[in-house]
Amino acid sequence: MTASYPNLRLRRTRASGWSRALHRETVLTPSDLIWPLFVTEGDEVDEPIASLPGVSRWSVDGIASRAREAVELGIPCVALFPNTPAGKRSDDGAEALNPDNLMCRAIKEIREACGADIGILTDVALDPYTTHGQDGLVDAAGYVTNDDTVAVLVDQALNQAAAGADIIAPSDMMDGRVHAIRMALEMNGHPNVQIMSYAAKYASAFYGPFRDAVGSRGLLKGDKKTYQMDPANAEEALREVELDLREGADSVMVKPGLPYLDIVRRVKERFEVPVFAYQVSGEYAMIEAAAAAGAGHRDALVLETLLAFKRAGCAGVLTYHAAHAARLLNG
Ligand code: PBG
Repeated sequence: MTASYPNLRLRRTRASGWSRALHRETVLTPSDLIWPLFVTEGDEVDEPIASLPGVSRWSVDGIASRAREAVELGIPCVALFPNTPAGKRSDDGAEALNPDNLMCRAIKEIREACGADIGILTDVALDPYTTHGQDGLVDAAGYVTNDDTVAVLVDQALNQAAAGADIIAPSDMMDGRVHAIRMALEMNGHPNVQIMSYAAKYASAFYGPFRDAVGSRGLLKGDKKTYQMDPANAEEALREVELDLREGADSVMVKPGLPYLDIVRRVKERFEVPVFAYQVSGEYAMIEAAAAAGAGHRDALVLETLLAFKRAGCAGVLTYHAAHAARLLNG
């Protein structure tokens, strides 16, 4: 860099719309988005979630409609989360292994409606199925045990893959689960089912509305700090990512999103692999609250935050704003 003012005027390229377009370094498109959807029992159910204004739980039929909508909007992938009926929750989360559970029915219905036009990402963790709201099996002392939990998560992943899931996304943060799930997928005829691991998932205060949506908030005793990461740590995130990649993850996720873009950037620079981020429920609610309070224009806030993920190095973003953002981007 040799030029200096006035030969160099950085405002020169910003002076008109065409020039700003020409010099834009980062582009956000609908194909960067993954749309998380909440599934519930019933027919034609559209149940608003109070703490996630604008987001609903849909019954399986509605989920298929949302998936069709995603295809039309150019969104390549949906992520599914079940609101398991209270009567089907148990200490061991056995409903996660039921081939006819909400998740599996939703997967099949989407496949029926959209064929191979959409990717279906499924969350592997037991919290939507347990009476204690923890992601794994709990021992007498209340500790979430690792290896026993991994064995169940493997069966959960196989159950989802058998129903037709395209991407298995373990969000549980147990040690060794990516390797165990990869091996099981290979040995059971699912060599092309991907694993997107929630590699750097933090014990965050931003998950509250999600726990309302899947009905686990009131059930959860204590916290998830013995398995989810300490928000203070970044080097540890790199170790988590390295381990998951060695174990066979096809892509990795950082979660939450905006407060952790430094982690996204460090992971991207270090490993040069596809990195995704999850703009989680509390971030969504924060943007909606800011817009409702007049602190900013909703559409502009949505697009700016999603663009920031791309700039930080993300291949894509899981966001509850996916459909709205895609509509804005499609003009
Ligand atoms: C559960 C899971 C959580 C989220 C995704 N999968 C919550 C948690 O770990 O307690 C949070 C997503 C969000 O807040 O939008 N394993």
